[in-house]
Amino acid sequence: MPKDLQKITIAIDGHSSCGKSTVAKDLAQAFGLTYIDTGAMYRAVTLYAIEQGLYGPNGLLVTELEKALPHIQIVLRKDKESGQVETWLNQELVEDRIRSLEVSTKVSEVSALAFVRKRMVELQQEMGKNGGVVLDGRDIGTVVFPQADLKLFMTASPEIRAQRRYDEMRAKGEKVSFEAVLENVKSRDHIDSTRAESPLRKADDALVLDNSRLDRQAQLAWVMKQLKDRSWAV
Ligand code: DC
Repeated sequence: MPKDLQKITIAIDGHSSCGKSTVAKDLAQAFGLTYIDTGAMYRAVTLYAIEQGLYGPNGLLVTELEKALPHIQIVLRKDKESGQVETWLNQELVEDRIRSLEVSTKVSEVSALAFVRKRMVELQQEMGKNGGVVLDGRDIGTVVFPQADLKLFMTASPEIRAQRRYDEMRAKGEKVSFEAVLENVKSRDHIDSTRAESPLRKADDALVLDNSRLDRQAQLAWVMKQLKDRSWAV
């Protein structure tokens, strides 16, 4: 008998720009799950810090950010028309602004802060407490939902990930060079995997999905097969 898919918790972790959100959105759509983009939450905190002038001559004003944290309200809301989940920061739609290269460059430092992580993890656990969710991030299977029903660890080569991100940014009209994007991908890999607080690592029971050579349909088919093998879907 297939288990109740509506209550399932799927954790997707992995390197930046390796297509986690595409798989997460496809699974959400296929099974009617709520998609929680945890990276968007760290990006929203970073955007707040930038827009509120919490950067001084020596970089991020960490104590100021900690003081401001209770005033940062982040909501992930599904747009009724497009069906896409969008990020709202203090009642303002920030979905596009949180994807800029400036935010991408600064977000690793912000997401390495223990007080930021503590708050975001609490919010994520609250959002997913009743199941029926698919989350993507770096610490979902290890910290946020270690009891998740299915854990995926996704990866792809840095060059392939940078190319995908570069194409996405150019399509949105951002003027960036491929080299700058590749540099950003590599530096985020390094910071995300070596930070003291919840570094990116594969949970022991996570399945590895390297999608360097898989297209969208093929990777969804692969995940569907994993679910089927575990009697989660027919
Ligand atoms: O998935 P993304 O590229 O949008 O994530 C942005 C940054 O946030 C990434 O550099 C690492 C961090 N992040 C994290 O530390 N923990 C998460 N659960 C999700 C993202």
